[in-house]
Amino acid sequence: MSATPASTRSATPHTRPVRQQSDGRPPGSVAAAPWGGPGFDQLRAQDPQIADALLGESARQAAGLQLIAAENFTSPAVLAALGSPLANKYAEGYPGARHHGGCELVDFAERTAVERAKALFGAEHANVQAHSGSSAVLAAYAALLRPGDSVLAMALPHGGHLTHGSPANFSGRWFDFAGYGVNPDTGLLDYRAIRELAVRRRPKAVVCGSISYPRHIDYAAFREIADEVGAYLIADAAHPIGLVAGGAAPNPVPYADVVCATTHKVLRGPRGGMILCGADLAERIDRAVFPFTQGGAQMHTVAAKAVAFGEAARPAFAAYAHRVTANARALAAALQDEGLAVTTGGTDTHLITADTAPLGLEARAARGRLAAAGIVLDTCALPGPVDAATRRTGIRLGTAAVSTQGMGEGEMVRIGALIGAALREDGAVRAATTELVRNFPPYPPPA
Ligand SMILES: Cc1ncc(COP(=O)(O)O)c(C=O)c1O
Repeated sequence: MSATPASTRSATPHTRPVRQQSDGRPPGSVAAAPWGGPGFDQLRAQDPQIADALLGESARQAAGLQLIAAENFTSPAVLAALGSPLANKYAEGYPGARHHGGCELVDFAERTAVERAKALFGAEHANVQAHSGSSAVLAAYAALLRPGDSVLAMALPHGGHLTHGSPANFSGRWFDFAGYGVNPDTGLLDYRAIRELAVRRRPKAVVCGSISYPRHIDYAAFREIADEVGAYLIADAAHPIGLVAGGAAPNPVPYADVVCATTHKVLRGPRGGMILCGADLAERIDRAVFPFTQGGAQMHTVAAKAVAFGEAARPAFAAYAHRVTANARALAAALQDEGLAVTTGGTDTHLITADTAPLGLEARAARGRLAAAGIVLDTCALPGPVDAATRRTGIRLGTAAVSTQGMGEGEMVRIGALIGAALREDGAVRAATTELVRNFPPYPPPA
């Protein structure tokens, strides 16, 4: 990492990085398993209440169809890193410049995560310490903006995230956001209207990214708009970044000044954030994360991010990412066949939004009926009128988790039919859901 934050000058210097062995492992790797690693029996004996909550949640995840677009099943290797003694380590600062001693091995883990992220996304710099997607966006704003600056982002009723100017969030309180939207007839981003708004507002930054936009974003078009008005371009790729890793979605890195992301969605890593940028902004981004907006990095999560980046670099992950999008297309078509109005008429990504109104059902009631059938998904704002009285809500679903379970397009057609039947309150769906997921355990027992 090129940056050494000024505030870490008094930090304990560890100028000699830990050298890896020829097989890539740090030197002196010792026992077969880390001391104190996941020990469920110990938890059950000591704290049966929490153990029961873990067991119950584990069973819940396996017993239904997990279609929340922002969720996935991480690998056992990622879970092992999360449950490791790296959780004990304080590591304020960055590798080679920490405020604490004993950081040699967590430095190795963080350097590995950074190098893997840079290679995976073709970025000059990666910060892997952001605790979450929101923390990553906060740090991007902190690095590039001053309070009161004007920013353009997707309006929340059209699919913007809370960090894109919600009055309930720091972003709406501290910056002057203007929201752009999608064409209400097509549901597609209206780049001409976005350009006109940018020319009128002359923002300091333009944010592109959404919680529910199902189509690929034209990053080159956003770059052009930002350049025309002299603004930074921040891509909030929290959702599609896993597809980018697998080559199933366009990469924002060549276009955006800063790319913010989460590591826990399609990317299938631990819950957390990440920031990618050019070498020119590396130091500002690093300082914006630590010490400006965060304290000690969560080194177990950083190590788990390294594991996930390693997995995402494999050909199997590219195949997975393409299966996710093929599955989403198949599911969108199946939902249309069931009479739902799918926004934009389909999807390019893992994500689908749909209006249940053609079935005479309000979205929250639809979500309730689906939950009763073991089908778990979210509601979301549908593009359209911005005023609260006429705002429409739909359902949002994604195929990342079911694809991790090994389901394919045939299962998506089946899921579409189950969703249609559940919305019509067919009482047989719960048993059919159980039957379907039985063949696709999220964590199959070792062969
Ligand atoms: C576009 C976008 N930005 C930011 C976030 C925030 O991520 P987190 O929940 O990790 O803070 C999300 C989460 O879904 C998101 O979709």
